[in-house]
Amino acid sequence: MFISIKEAMSQQKGKVSIRGWVYRERKSNKFTFLVIRDSSDIVQCVLKKEKFENQWQDIDKLLIESSVEIEGHIKKDERAPTGYEIDVDKINIVGYAEVFPIKKDQSAELLLDERHLWLRSRKMTAVMKIRSSVFSAIDDFFRSKGFYEVAPPIFTPNACEGGATLFEVKFFDDKVYLTQSWQLYAEAMIFSLEKIYCNSPCFRAEKSKTSRHLAEFYMAEMEMAWADLAQVEKYAEELVEFIVQRILEKNSEELKILERDVSKLEKIKAPFPRITYTEALKILKEKENLSIEWGKDLRTVEEELLVKYFSSPVIVTNYPKEIMAFYKPSDPKDPKTALCFDMLAPEGFGEIIGGSQRETDIKKLIEGLKKEGENIDNYQWYLDSRRFGSIPHSGFGLGVERVVRWICGLDNIKDAIPFPRTMLRKSP
Ligand code: 4AD
Ligand code: MG
Repeated sequence: MFISIKEAMSQQKGKVSIRGWVYRERKSNKFTFLVIRDSSDIVQCVLKKEKFENQWQDIDKLLIESSVEIEGHIKKDERAPTGYEIDVDKINIVGYAEVFPIKKDQSAELLLDERHLWLRSRKMTAVMKIRSSVFSAIDDFFRSKGFYEVAPPIFTPNACEGGATLFEVKFFDDKVYLTQSWQLYAEAMIFSLEKIYCNSPCFRAEKSKTSRHLAEFYMAEMEMAWADLAQVEKYAEELVEFIVQRILEKNSEELKILERDVSKLEKIKAPFPRITYTEALKILKEKENLSIEWGKDLRTVEEELLVKYFSSPVIVTNYPKEIMAFYKPSDPKDPKTALCFDMLAPEGFGEIIGGSQRETDIKKLIEGLKKEGENIDNYQWYLDSRRFGSIPHSGFGLGVERVVRWICGLDNIKDAIPFPRTMLRKSP
């Protein structure tokens, strides 16, 4: 019976059978050292030539990433990379490997070209385990709060976040777009379910080549009937705290592999500080001597400078109404600004959540859509949500890869998803 490498090591001694891939190999006259990896961990194995006289030629042909089944005796060994060594009694070579194209210290571009193989690395394995935990944390959080999961359509006739980043697809004899956000559908569905969430792919033809934009990414979104902005801000900060705490609990080994400074994550406790856009401009002016004209959106560089002054995520509210999407209402207390928020992650990671209260006035929605150059006919179904028992409601969207990147401390968002798609990359 095969057990995982992790189970074999926790057994500490005695006979074990494991299987996996050659992670490192070193050969001498009398010994072959193989470090074997599986999804759980790595372990050093030693093969003594005297035991394998008949098989030695085959063993000699084992290169990195060959697959093997091994039976032997495990014991503690401080010199071994994970503190254990298996003295091998039997080896079955399942699949030989060609010379592995990835060597040490390769360029980020080569690693992306060989992504299908690089995903086998300890780094990427650790990131993907954390990503999986983030997905389950999102589900657990929303379900524990009484939200229903809803699957939004991917093909849509409408823009939600502006026409500039839409991907157009041929749809039989017609055309549709790949969804930018589930929001318009969510606003229709709260009339039956009231509290809903999703974690679904979104697509944006982002022309920016930044370390935080993907063309295909996952967004965890929530929408809530009767809720105002303050209520969903509270859900947003509790969700982020919940995710971070879950990862600290479940993935300490992976965070260690990634050399993440966990003391920074341990500090993430709700409530998070709140500032307005106008106050953000003031901080940038006073501390960074950076003048931004009121009414301009905050760019990546400016967000990076701003979050230097916070050790936890910060909630920025009241962005200029003028530059916001059509569905964000203006704040009655400060009508030049919108009832909306962005949550920015610390350590320079920038925006991880965008959310708002939703405009309930159908005339203003139509006006806003027209201003964005949209054809109102395509939005009649959406506008029905304001015609049949309209209610106040709010929601937000959390960029899953943005959060994974921040928690893992990754240089680039591309490493937060297995097969990244950007303006310059569509394969493998
Ligand atoms: O701020 P955004 O554009 O908000 C919306 O789409 C709303 N409709 C959400 C809602 O209220 N239901 O996007 C939300 C989040 C951003 O904060 C960011 O984390 C992520 O989605 N995001 C991206 N992540 C990776 N690559 C991109 N190109 C992204 N665009 C947005
Ligand atoms: Mg945004």
